[in-house]
Amino acid sequence: MLIRGGSPLSGSIVAQGAKNAALPLMASALLLKGQSLTLERVPDLMDIHTMAGLLRNLGANVEFGGGRMKIDVPDELKWETPANLVRKMRASSLVLGPLVARCGKAVLPLPGGCAIGSRPIDFHLKALAKMGAEIDLEHGSVHARTDGLRATRISFDFPSVGATENVLMAASMTPGRSVIENAAREPEIVNLAQALRAMGARIEGEGGGTIQVEGAKNLGSASVRIIPDRIEASTYLLAGVMTRGEVTVNGINPEYLESLIIKLEEAGIFVGVFADSVSVSCRDRRWKGVSLKTLPYPGFPTDLQPQIMAALCMADGTSVIQESVFDSRYVHIGEFKRMGCKLDIQGNTVVITGVSKLAGTEVHASDLRAGAALILMGLAAEGETTVCSLKHVWRGYESLMSKMTSLRADIELIPDQDGA
Ligand code: UD1
Repeated sequence: MLIRGGSPLSGSIVAQGAKNAALPLMASALLLKGQSLTLERVPDLMDIHTMAGLLRNLGANVEFGGGRMKIDVPDELKWETPANLVRKMRASSLVLGPLVARCGKAVLPLPGGCAIGSRPIDFHLKALAKMGAEIDLEHGSVHARTDGLRATRISFDFPSVGATENVLMAASMTPGRSVIENAAREPEIVNLAQALRAMGARIEGEGGGTIQVEGAKNLGSASVRIIPDRIEASTYLLAGVMTRGEVTVNGINPEYLESLIIKLEEAGIFVGVFADSVSVSCRDRRWKGVSLKTLPYPGFPTDLQPQIMAALCMADGTSVIQESVFDSRYVHIGEFKRMGCKLDIQGNTVVITGVSKLAGTEVHASDLRAGAALILMGLAAEGETTVCSLKHVWRGYESLMSKMTSLRADIELIPDQDGA
């Protein structure tokens, strides 16, 4: 992507449906037998197509277009997942819980995804084992089997989003009362619980640290709307800040953006919060440095850490960021420095000394959110910036080119040097 930076963004966009809500919701369809799940506001993203491919490979019929997805699930499902699809995306591990609960067995090659830390799935496996699944690791794949899962009490060492989702799905098809303690509280978990409840499971406490699930042997067809994508929305707001512009994101629940809004206000940025939209206004103003630590929801999201770091690189004064969710999510710092940022990294802490100008150059996206942050840097920098390895960015941002151009960003896609 070639970016001619330096001009303020202005205008409004509508947030996409949340990628991280859509993926577990799609996986939850595997709990159905001869029934269907209909999803509305599904974002058209690479990861969504990967998950659709995975579901089709297991035997489901997936129709997708215009934001609507219908997943028809036959009586018989395959339970062995293909390595080529699973290795593309870590969220593939979300099919494990539904497959074990529904088929009594599953084979899952250890998943891939963004290169941001070691990212094991031991919490998922330990929890499923506690529910009565026998788990073995053979030739890089997880083999799980059971004669029937049993309802039990699971207590996570850390509120893992994916592990909470896997257990929530498996427990929804397990007769009896399961309790999930130290559960993740993300809005995407609440969206998943809403779908499972519509299918027939009885669920209480989602959005809090303890979730109670009364499973049902047979679940029925359901229809659910995906919640707005808080990370996408926040990325566009930060683009408005970084370019000293005025950006409004519509179709969002401002509550999901609370931790960002608090930090923006602390930095002295004007934030407008309305019923279903949030706007920032940063005309001709420099914002102050602030400090933050990434945490599970409702704390500051790790998926926004590279983007807010980009904005803090141009703040007045010093900021400190502590990454507490992932163990090596600072790969983007090398590229930031090439654009003139002043950053000092010590373990999981980064000290940022704000600069007033960034210089455009060629940079490489190492993962999805780092790629988004580099695009923000390019929009704010003087001169031209080329962001390479955009394939990561397409995994999470729908219609990025048209949304950015509607905000008056001067960007275009150019062929890779190898002509791709
Ligand atoms: C989800 C999001 C991802 C986001 C992350 C944290 C989806 C599809 N992806 O990922 O975008 O960055 O939440 O908000 O929703 N961990 C273990 N063992 C496990 C599971 C997790 O050690 O079995 C660790 C991870 O390595 C990481 C931390 O727990 O350090 C959080 O991971 P988790 O909440 O599980 O993230 P994901 O569900 O993979």
